[in-house]
Amino acid sequence: MRALVVYESSFGNTGQVAQAVWQGMFSRMHDVALLEVGAAPRRLPPELELLVVGAPTQAFGMSRPGTRADAQQKAGETEAAPTIGVREWLRELEPPERPVHAATFDTRIHSPHVPGSAAVGAWRVLRRAGFQVAAEAESFWVMGIKGPLRDGELDRARAWGVGLTGLLLGLRPIDPGSLGAPAR
Ligand SMILES: Cc1cc2nc3c(=O)[nH]c(=O)nc-3n(C[C@H](O)[C@H](O)[C@H](O)COP(=O)(O)O)c2cc1C
Repeated sequence: MRALVVYESSFGNTGQVAQAVWQGMFSRMHDVALLEVGAAPRRLPPELELLVVGAPTQAFGMSRPGTRADAQQKAGETEAAPTIGVREWLRELEPPERPVHAATFDTRIHSPHVPGSAAVGAWRVLRRAGFQVAAEAESFWVMGIKGPLRDGELDRARAWGVGLTGLLLGLRPIDPGSLGAPAR
């Protein structure tokens, strides 16, 4: 496995973005996996070259058990909230033994009145852990707490995924705005 996309999602929007990012990456390199955070390993495969982490912004940053429980209540689910989010997974993640590129994204509400970004939080943790966080943290926009995603965000996510594969070619990431329609 050369690349891995790990995501967390309370209502499914970040999951959709993660899948689109994965599709964009897969269109350029086939050795890329997509895993929900609860299924992601604490020790990364030794051959891994690129880690992409995505999470919903909750309470101005990465989720916590309380915000996930809140989200679950809003979703009308009665089972116990998932016990792990990206924040907890990153805390337990073993530092890479050799250079690994990393990039982060989040979903959040596009409003000047709602600050904070889970992607920036994850980006800082990964940088501190020794990952090569070359790409900027990226945000994809939802229209409300449960979504849906804004029109065009999945296309933008695919293009972003294509651009990330440039990191593995030793190139600067491709500017998503310069790309045409991505492969599906
Ligand atoms: C408890 C809770 C707190 C939230 N706090 C924020 C916030 O601080 N900033 C923001 O932009 N969106 C916030 N949101 C909206 C989430 O970003 C939105 O639910 C998420 O992007 C949807 O992604 P998901 O479907 O993958 O869970 C919050 C949502 C919940 C449930």
